Amino acid sequence: DWTPQSFVEETVEAIQEKVGNDKVVLGLSGGVDSTVAAVLLNKAIGKNLYCIFVNNGLLRKNEFQNVLNQYEGMGLNVKGVDASDRFLSALKGIEDPEKKRKAIGNAFIEVFDDEAHKIEDVTWLAQGTIYPDVIESVSATGGPSATIKSHHNVGGLPDFMKLKIVEPLKAIFKDEVRRVGATLGIDPELLGRHPFPGPGLGIRILGDITAEKVRMLQEVDYIFINGLKEWGLYDRVWQAGAMLLPVNSVGVMGDERTYEKCVALRAVESTDGMTADWVNLPYEFLQKTSNEIINKVKGVNRVVYDISSKPPATIEWE
Ligand code: XMP
Repeated sequence: DWTPQSFVEETVEAIQEKVGNDKVVLGLSGGVDSTVAAVLLNKAIGKNLYCIFVNNGLLRKNEFQNVLNQYEGMGLNVKGVDASDRFLSALKGIEDPEKKRKAIGNAFIEVFDDEAHKIEDVTWLAQGTIYPDVIESVSATGGPSATIKSHHNVGGLPDFMKLKIVEPLKAIFKDEVRRVGATLGIDPELLGRHPFPGPGLGIRILGDITAEKVRMLQEVDYIFINGLKEWGLYDRVWQAGAMLLPVNSVGVMGDERTYEKCVALRAVESTDGMTADWVNLPYEFLQKTSNEIINKVKGVNRVVYDISSKPPATIEWE
């Protein structure tokens, strides 16, 4: 019978046998899969595991620092690399969703390759690939591995992709990954996190991306997600987030007419991201959240709630 305990024991042994005293590099995304993979590898080979956590500047508010602290607290050998500016300049003026994804994917590959080159004699690349990724080849839940896979045909293989591959989770499903993570003592809050796309807020800012738009959306998203947690709604939702629309609309503030941005909130129920239903969030919650966003986030004067199901509407707007 499969149990998380026996999975951990067997996998740790298998990793030790496979990589011996070699060095391994792994990209952490802040998500469940890469985190569980890292903790497993850390248990097996300790400091020979070199983790890299890249800030692409499109993460949630405070996420980079908070998650980096968490990783360090877990005893991982992790390097945080703040490459926000590099991603922002790569994205400058790009409006097309697929071109944005490519720009973000390519910037990630460049940054990760630079960092991997700094690790002397590294011979293995570890990935948090899980079984559904193996079947689908593009992860529904995001993360560096998904980014790499969908972009490995751009401009020849970067050096880190010539490394030998170790994928300790590639035979198990998401719920099993969570159970393994719990057995390894990983914070339940981290294990229960919603999926977040690899390109991050980059595909939730419709149209071109600027630092100011990222800041606005981070504030909106923070109010929404925090509210879901405070109201005990977070765990009822498969995934939630906010979209910054390329629309200005008229509002009034005091005697003044405003002409400011509109944001859309989206929360969906799903089991695998392939199909999804919008969540019937309480009106009181939506009311409070909308007021708070409009009062606190400068530049936003209108909030709408997305009541579209997938299909045909995708979870993300881009
Ligand atoms: P859609 O929008 O296609 O999203 O209904 C389904 C799931 O996939 C995530 N998603 C992505 N993840 N890179 C990723 O790593 C991407 O480019 C990407 N696009 C969508 C989305 O957040 C949802 O969980």
